[in-house]
Amino acid sequence: MLKGKSLIDPMDFSKEELEEIFALADKIIENPREYAHAADGKILATLFYEPSTRTRFSFEAAMLRLGGKVIGFSEPNSTSVSKGETIADTIRIVSCYADIVAMRHPKEGAPKIASMYSEIPVINAGDGGHQHPTQTLTDLLTISKIKGKLSNLTIGMCGDLKFGRTVHSLIKALSRYENNKIILISPDELKVPDYIKKGILDKNNIEYEEVKRIEDVIESLDVLYMTRVQKERFFNEEDYIRLKDSYILDKNKLSKAKDDMIILHPLPRVNEISYDIDSDKRACYFKQAKFGMYVRMALMAKLMGVL
Ligand code: NCD
Repeated sequence: MLKGKSLIDPMDFSKEELEEIFALADKIIENPREYAHAADGKILATLFYEPSTRTRFSFEAAMLRLGGKVIGFSEPNSTSVSKGETIADTIRIVSCYADIVAMRHPKEGAPKIASMYSEIPVINAGDGGHQHPTQTLTDLLTISKIKGKLSNLTIGMCGDLKFGRTVHSLIKALSRYENNKIILISPDELKVPDYIKKGILDKNNIEYEEVKRIEDVIESLDVLYMTRVQKERFFNEEDYIRLKDSYILDKNKLSKAKDDMIILHPLPRVNEISYDIDSDKRACYFKQAKFGMYVRMALMAKLMGVL
């Protein structure tokens, strides 16, 4: 039963529950008009304490397409947060007004705290460098729609694997599917944190490899997941400037890739993927964004218990 649950960490739902969400997302994709009034009268509150365009719009569009309405902020300085209100109090109040909350916060764990004080489901829309479970739902749905499976894949994750929360969540989620091999491509300074390596990859006996160059591994990949160097999480600008252009996927590097490899990116892209790749049939990042909206429709409908 998904009704009434919160989604804070990608492991909060069982594989079966994920399947339930994906199955509904599939139906919505096939016939979106049938769901245009599924959430009539419901209200989503988007509490965004950190900048976002895509994720917030994706949640909002998802709720509007279900027939619901949206309240919220994307500029915490214009709210009582700037007067010193705690997350616990904010969420207690929002619980009185809305039916479901999507929260993004720069501090790891903030949405978890919110869910402990909330009367309504809380969805973590990204907490600091920690987790981003709805991006993971998006990524899993995209991979399964295009590759037809979530197991027996070689998946390369490239870029800022240290601060990239989408990568942390995706690794967690993929660790539950069989026989996947994960190739982590990053400079030394931006490697996946130990709590993911030891706590997820080693613990679940997932085959993985850490490399520095895309060129050395691209031919073996079924999925290449590119990420942006997370500027906002760096402590000093020099490090960011030194590392920001570590990877740029261009036609030359892509020439060695399999014909049916897919390129994903949670977006926004800075310059990790050269623009002339966009027209390559392997570039799936814009499709991925669209799947993200559908999967959020399915997720919210299930958590609110309207479908
Ligand atoms: C990601 C995020 O916010 O972590 N973006 C998103 O939600 N689509 C990735 C990023 O900002 O690099």
